[in-house]
Amino acid sequence: MHNDISEILVSEQEIQEICQRLGKEVTKDYQDKSPILVGLLKGCVPFMADISRHIDLKFDMAYMSVSSYHGGIASSGDVKIKLDLDISIKGRDVIIVEDIVDTANTIVTIIELFKHRGASSVKMVTLLDKPEGRVRPYQPDYVGKVIPKAFVVGYGLDYNEYYRNLPYVGVLKPEVYST
Ligand code: IMP
Repeated sequence: MHNDISEILVSEQEIQEICQRLGKEVTKDYQDKSPILVGLLKGCVPFMADISRHIDLKFDMAYMSVSSYHGGIASSGDVKIKLDLDISIKGRDVIIVEDIVDTANTIVTIIELFKHRGASSVKMVTLLDKPEGRVRPYQPDYVGKVIPKAFVVGYGLDYNEYYRNLPYVGVLKPEVYST
């Protein structure tokens, strides 16, 4: 598995520093509020687990599964809800937890949906941001690290469902997905 990675972009230690920093920022900004953290499956799982332990507030956790890649390395632009929330977000402060923002098709669609469902506020925290990949204009509220436009895996991010268990984020060698 490690041999398929050409370069480590975010090390285990840096990931933990990011979770600590972002957790503190969220805690500060949501004092006296009880937000709902909505993780977008499956990529959010390690990040949700780590950042949530640095958010010193009472909050709910909920999950949703949406897909825009359908297994490849480029967004199809067509966002499908595969599993919906099991709680109401009406009148609630929502913080979406994402692994990465690329084209922003997914996040912009979900934010519009959550506003339509009556959330009082919708913000998002992402571990990674690839601003060069944007198809729709969007600036995440909390960003762990800005990375160049490369296809990355690890720490929740997959290629055809593999590599999510890597403890770091690395660039996948192009020969892995071109063969
Ligand atoms: P967007 O809709 O293009 O912003 O992409 C959002 C989703 O695409 C993320 O939640 C990921 O699941 C997936 N994605 C985007 N870039 C990468 C990548 O470099 N590696 C793995 N998945 C990615």
